[in-house]
Amino acid sequence: MEIKYIPKGTMTERQQKDVDIIDQTCLSGDTGDPERVLVNMYDWGAADDGMFLLFDGERVVGRVAVEKTLTEYNGQDYYLGGFSGLAVLPEYWGKGYARQLADAALKKAYEIGVDVACMCVDMNSGITDFYQRLGFRFLNRSAYFINWIDKEKSDDTVMIMGLNNKSLADKILETDHKFHYGKNKGHW
Ligand SMILES: CC(C)(COP(=O)(O)OP(=O)(O)OC[C@H]1O[C@@H](n2cnc3c(N)ncnc32)[C@H](O)[C@@H]1OP(=O)(O)O)[C@@H](O)C(=O)NCCC(=O)NCCS
Repeated sequence: MEIKYIPKGTMTERQQKDVDIIDQTCLSGDTGDPERVLVNMYDWGAADDGMFLLFDGERVVGRVAVEKTLTEYNGQDYYLGGFSGLAVLPEYWGKGYARQLADAALKKAYEIGVDVACMCVDMNSGITDFYQRLGFRFLNRSAYFINWIDKEKSDDTVMIMGLNNKSLADKILETDHKFHYGKNKGHW
């Protein structure tokens, strides 16, 4: 088993097909919100820097995207990002591969200058305890984003972690200015 970083735009056709299978198998949860589905299709990952892929030989069996985008909090510009779409095919669960992918993605996000990591979590998955062990904390208020048809939407299950700017992460968590994923469309 091996984890490799694939910069944006350099994924092979074979790798993309495997990633599509992982996405369909692990990440196609229906939120019941048709506009949200469209956001997922068109905007999620719009700011991704690349992906770490988990290989079993030539086959891709896990993936996580690294994200970075310029945004602002209470007038202060900063880079928001982290990782998204952490998934491993079921036959490989419970062996620590997601942990390795998450660690690699957070290290990369730090290296490329992400100030604050952020993620929208599925509260039903039970995985939030793992994210807390990684260092994420709950944002106890809504996070806003603009969807692809220019409508403002919000999520209320968001977690935050400081990377290059830990004091800004603390400020976001401890003050109550409007927090949004990005100035442009999409989550990031
Ligand atoms: C969640 C998922 C990525 C975990 O993959 P995995 O390779 O089995 O995870 P690991 O073995 O590396 O375990 C990572 C950590 O998560 C915890 N964990 C794994 N699956 C869990 C679950 N279903 N519920 C709660 N905790 C879980 C482990 O205890 C471990 O914690 P630790 O490292 O602090 O001890 C995998 O089950 C998956 O792809 N699920 C579907 C997609 C998904 O839900 N992704 C998360 C999006 S928010």
